[in-house]
Amino acid sequence: MSLNTAPWQSDDAYEQMVGTLFNYWACWTVYAVAHLSIADHLASGNLTAAEVARREGSAPHTTLRLMRAGAAVGLLTEDANERFGSTPLLETLRSDDPRSLRPFVLSQMASWLPWDRFVASIRDGVTRSTEAFGGSPFDFLAAHPEEAERFSAAMAGVTALWGPAIAKVIDTRGVRCAVDVGGANGALLMLLQRDNLDLRGIVFDRPNIAEYAHLEVTRSGFAERTSVVGGDFFESIPQGDLLLLKFILHDWSDDECIIILKRCRQALAPAGRIAVIDSIVGPNNPRAALFDMNMLMGCTGRERTIDEFDELFGVAGLQRITVRDTGTPQSVIELTVAEAE
Ligand SMILES: C[S@@+](CC[C@H](N)C(=O)[O-])C[C@H]1O[C@@H](n2cnc3c(N)ncnc32)[C@H](O)[C@@H]1O
Repeated sequence: MSLNTAPWQSDDAYEQMVGTLFNYWACWTVYAVAHLSIADHLASGNLTAAEVARREGSAPHTTLRLMRAGAAVGLLTEDANERFGSTPLLETLRSDDPRSLRPFVLSQMASWLPWDRFVASIRDGVTRSTEAFGGSPFDFLAAHPEEAERFSAAMAGVTALWGPAIAKVIDTRGVRCAVDVGGANGALLMLLQRDNLDLRGIVFDRPNIAEYAHLEVTRSGFAERTSVVGGDFFESIPQGDLLLLKFILHDWSDDECIIILKRCRQALAPAGRIAVIDSIVGPNNPRAALFDMNMLMGCTGRERTIDEFDELFGVAGLQRITVRDTGTPQSVIELTVAEAE
């Protein structure tokens, strides 16, 4: 069984409504399974819950209950001897998988703090993220290095999933220096560099994140063609002729986006391009509407329609050249400096 074929995914509206709550419990089940590293424990063969509990140091009776719930949502198989095995869904949580989604699950599910104020935010239009995190989420990460490392790994996991389709529509021919602005581990830049062996680049992020980027770029063998620079994109951005802004603008309010875009315009070499990679709200992208709830709770940002993006670009002195669908929830919007009127 999988989450998509679970009995609560019914055609009946009343069953569906109750099913949405089963999905809520399913998310917490996935979170605990990821936290207890059950994918890693089962990597070399089936185990009983008691064996997993012994390896993990968790309580055997609740570990058994969790693993049964894991089987109910398609993460695990269970045989007649109460031995549990792995499924392809569980494999996505293995920590030794370069595409691992374990950090993404852990970081997203651990960011529940502002959600108890969700309805209040909808009613009064004010995000509670600053209140919940005691600053911006990125200040919170700077104060909690373990979370910061996990967040960067989470971003790399999502880039491993959607990044290849995104990289495919970004033309890097003739680009001298691509800057991955707020690039976390630099996963997108490295994908582009894999395709274009001449491409040099810079991963630019907050100093605390740049530390991990440096390790990752070196470990992946890109250090010769890549520099890592720590800084603040509200102050200045290293110069390049292709600036990548993936999953950046949706973190910030309109006013904050305009500052970032103006800094990009200043950093852009003559005839350069900016590639904004974000979800575009619209009828063809239902996931953007749900992402938008996450942005409302997690930061000062939002997902935007293409008209809303265009308005920001115009104020920052930029103009859209193209928008490309990637077949993932993220599109690539290319910009250049607006022609003077
Ligand atoms: C949602 S993540 C996106 C990471 C990456 N671009 C990706 O798509 O996987 C936002 C990134 O912006 C970085 N960031 C936030 N504030 C920043 C600032 N003031 N200057 C530079 N980077 C910043 C964060 O550290 C984080 O890596």
